Amino acid sequence: MVLPQDDKNRYENSPKMSDWKTYFEKSDRNIFKQCLSARRLIEIIIDTIPKGGRVLEAGCGTALLSLLLADYGYDVTALDLTDGIIDYAKKRICVDKVKLNIIRGDIFKLSSLFEERYFDVVCNSGVMEHFSDEEIVRGLAEQKKVSKMVIFNVPNNHNVLTEGHFGDERFLSNKKWVSLIKNAGFKSVNVYGGYYVTRPAYLLPSIVFKHGFYFDFLWKCFSRHSVFVCE
Ligand SMILES: C[S@@+](CC[C@H](N)C(=O)[O-])C[C@H]1O[C@@H](n2cnc3c(N)ncnc32)[C@H](O)[C@@H]1O
Repeated sequence: MVLPQDDKNRYENSPKMSDWKTYFEKSDRNIFKQCLSARRLIEIIIDTIPKGGRVLEAGCGTALLSLLLADYGYDVTALDLTDGIIDYAKKRICVDKVKLNIIRGDIFKLSSLFEERYFDVVCNSGVMEHFSDEEIVRGLAEQKKVSKMVIFNVPNNHNVLTEGHFGDERFLSNKKWVSLIKNAGFKSVNVYGGYYVTRPAYLLPSIVFKHGFYFDFLWKCFSRHSVFVCE
């Protein structure tokens, strides 16, 4: 992966995880944390896609997001490429009562696995920021081929790398993300702010985040995560 110079400096000075399985074991993911961190993404999917719809989570890791969506009532496929992650995910979750299919696969080769527009939505959380510009465009274009819509969640440029990160994350602005999404062939992109906000936002009265015209605008300005809805 080729990184721009500023990202490269951050990356070189940051702690690194050796692989994704180690990362998940160290970061102690659980369903409660997953609910909190992906809450806005989940709300938007639920508002947009009717129950029973076909969902692909591309880059599922622990597959906890997939489990939540399957439990809500979607027909979910969870896909990841890393060796060992699929077994790890299957061991962690009980899939008997929900429609959840966990498979190994590459986000850059989705169209070789699934029919055109097979899914109602492809979603992912914390995946696309690990790729270069060229890979993001290519990965999104693949997701577009197999789905009617793509909804994803990434940390934005209100973040800096810390020990809690994997180490190769790129924290891009919403403007940059929108341009990459458009380059992947999407005609419409809506941007929403996730529920983790930057420190200056702590000074604002909570009422401004709850109601009215400014709701989406303020979350977008102060959020440390962005959710993109692409069609
Ligand atoms: C930060 S993790 C996010 C996992 C999950 N979405 C979560 O929130 O727990 C990134 C995941 O993307 C997966 N990944 C990286 N490159 C991939 C690719 N080319 N195809 C599919 N999955 C990939 C990694 O194996 C890892 O599980």
